[in-house]
Amino acid sequence: MTTGSDLLDLSPVMPVVVLDDPADAVPTARALLAGGVPVIELTLRTDTALESIRRIAAEVPEIVVGAGTVTTPRHARQAAEAGAGFLVTPGVTDAVLDAAAATGLPFLPGASTVSEAMRLAERGLGALKFFPAEASGGTDFLRSVAGPLPALRFCPTGGITAGSAGGYLALPNVGCVGGSWLTPKDAVAARNFGKIELLAKQAAALR
Ligand code: 3PG
Repeated sequence: MTTGSDLLDLSPVMPVVVLDDPADAVPTARALLAGGVPVIELTLRTDTALESIRRIAAEVPEIVVGAGTVTTPRHARQAAEAGAGFLVTPGVTDAVLDAAAATGLPFLPGASTVSEAMRLAERGLGALKFFPAEASGGTDFLRSVAGPLPALRFCPTGGITAGSAGGYLALPNVGCVGGSWLTPKDAVAARNFGKIELLAKQAAALR
C-alpha cells in the first residue's frame, strides 16, 4: 500500500477506533482482522493512542494500522515514529499537510467543501476523507461533486452507520466509509472482542 487511494481499497469500512487502554489494542486489532477487516484507524484522542499504535504495529503486522485525528504537525511526526502505516486528518492546515507529506506515509486528508477538495487535489492528493459526512451533505454532496471532480475518491466518515453505509458504498466516487460502530465503547470496555469480530464480519460483507 503506497498511496491514500490504496487505503480506500482495503475494506468497505475503515474502523475509526478510540482506545483508552493500550491493553485493548492488540485484541481489538486481532478481532477486526478475524472479521475480515485488515485495517484500523487508531485515533489520537487519548493519551495512550500512540502506545496502542506501537503495540499493533509490533504485534499484529497483518493489519494496516494508521493514526486518525491527526490535527498538528507533531501528531504526524509522532504517529510515524510509533509505526503508523498511514495518517488521517479531519481537516487540513498547510502545516499539517507539510508534516504529513514529510513522513512519506499514505495520507487521507479531511475535506468537507469543494474548495478544500480542489486545494488538496492541487497538491496531488486524490483520496480524501469526507468529514463530517452526514453533517456536510452526505450522499447528496458526493453525488454532486462526482461531475466536476471525477478524479477524486472519498472515504466519507462521521455519522455513518451499518444501515447507511450501503448507500455511500454504492456511489462510484466512494472507496470505503469510515465509522466507529465496529468498536462500540461498551464492547471494548467489556472486552467483548467476539462482538467486534462479528461487527467486522458484517462490515466486510457490505461490498
Ligand atoms: C471520525 O473521527 O472519523 C469520526 O468521529 C467517526 O465518526 P462516527 O463516530 O460518527 O463514526
